Amino acid sequence: MILPIVAYGDPVLKKKAKPITPDYPNLSTLLENMYETMYGASGVGLAAPQIGLAIRVFLVDTSPFAGDESFSPEEQKQLENFKKTFINAEILEEEGEEWGFSEGCLSIPGINEDVFRKPVVTIKYQDKDFNTHTETYTGLIARVIQHEYDHIEGVLFTDKLSSLKKRLIKGKLTNISKGKCSAEYRMKFPMVSKKR
Ligand code: NI
Repeated sequence: MILPIVAYGDPVLKKKAKPITPDYPNLSTLLENMYETMYGASGVGLAAPQIGLAIRVFLVDTSPFAGDESFSPEEQKQLENFKKTFINAEILEEEGEEWGFSEGCLSIPGINEDVFRKPVVTIKYQDKDFNTHTETYTGLIARVIQHEYDHIEGVLFTDKLSSLKKRLIKGKLTNISKGKCSAEYRMKFPMVSKKR
């Protein structure tokens, strides 16, 4: 089932999300729905707060970047095959010199800005069966993980922009929270009153 994606301005996007336990109700259905929602919106990642749940769950599937020739053939191959569910993730370390890349977010349609992040990330997480893994990722895979991880920490990519950039996009962000934006997927807007 495709779920509506929560838009910028909803308080759930600003909350630090809580860990879950293996008895979390209907987890496999939730994950299925999240994957369906992410693919339905052509996203490369989706975090639970974006569907209104402040829990430490996010998904990444970087395969849409596979044909992008700005990446080396080797990196494209990695991007093509990277699909993972992260539960209760904790970033242990971020290393290297920050690099910029134009990011977007399904909760913030129509806005893309360069975001600077460190290129190497070591993350500890549990998979859908609650087995614990500690892995290190680099490049664009690391970046997508960092972006989704920020969501479960209550941080959006727009929070990481310069104050000048923030001022420049303020009006657009307000419009998004009011539903004045176009997205090719279902969204839920915090400042649109519900019809009775
Ligand atoms: Ni996002």
